Amino acid sequence: MVPILLKILISLGFLSYVASANVVPFERLDINDSVLLILDLQVGLYHLARDFDATLYHNNLLAHASLGQLFNIPVVMTTSAETGPNGPLPKEIVEMYPNASFVKRQGEVDAWDNPEFRAAIEATGRKQIIVGGITTDVCTTFLALSLRSEGYSVFANVEASGTTTELIRDVSNSRMQAAGVQLMSTFAIVCDLMRDWRNVPGAAEVIPWLDKYFPIYGDLARAHGAAVLNGTLVPGEAALIG
Ligand SMILES: *[C@@H]1O[C@H](CO)[C@@H](O)[C@H](O)[C@H]1NC(C)=O
Ligand SMILES: *[C@@H]1O[C@H](CO)[C@@H](O)[C@H](O)[C@H]1NC(C)=O
Ligand SMILES: *[C@@H]1O[C@H](CO)[C@@H](O)[C@H](O)[C@H]1NC(C)=O
Repeated sequence: MVPILLKILISLGFLSYVASANVVPFERLDINDSVLLILDLQVGLYHLARDFDATLYHNNLLAHASLGQLFNIPVVMTTSAETGPNGPLPKEIVEMYPNASFVKRQGEVDAWDNPEFRAAIEATGRKQIIVGGITTDVCTTFLALSLRSEGYSVFANVEASGTTTELIRDVSNSRMQAAGVQLMSTFAIVCDLMRDWRNVPGAAEVIPWLDKYFPIYGDLARAHGAAVLNGTLVPGEAALIG
């Protein structure tokens, strides 16, 4: 009985995967058609983000927020009832965009319910929305589904949204994915917006950004740079290179 049940579940899962893959065609991020959304990444709500190491998540928030500066794409910031327990945005984020649209919602949970927020998104004239928010299941998912139903393409930065448990994160991501939201890492968003290391922004702008926010690549570049400037093969290395 169990193996048969398993087979049925696998085939159902496979079929629904194929179905959703057909519904939402492959679409790439376009630097000329995208908007960065900083959604409720508030210092109070930060405490609900328990599905990441706290230090890592703090860094993730700043990395997500800084994508607007790196690629010079429009930014829309919004907060939910920020004078209450949810708190304000981190001041580092507010200081990044003194001129960006910033909608301080008084009560609406789904940002799309706020006319000023809708107007700020519409004013950009752009159709691809890159979003990270706390919490994943409420702020990010509610807005992502509203945007999808209005015909926007939504790219959810899975490293920038946080929630209380991994179970809740996973079901929320599944719910978004079923509605055609594209789930992406920060690095994937960076590489898709850049497209080619020879572009501007390209290697010259992106490598310093990676060094700050994605140090695994920064250290790789440092090691390569040090080797080029003053490296010597140690015994045994030459044979690895051929
Ligand atoms: C964005 O616009 C610039 C300037 O018109 C153009 O060079 C670039 O190829 C465009 N990028 C994409 C991904 O379409
Ligand atoms: C914000 O706008 C002011 C006034 O137009 C301008 O002087 C300033 O450079 C802008 N700042 C940024 C970060 O774009
Ligand atoms: C280069 O490597 C040599 C040998 O290890 C060392 O003596 C020298 O100080 C290094 N030079 C620089 C600029 O790091």
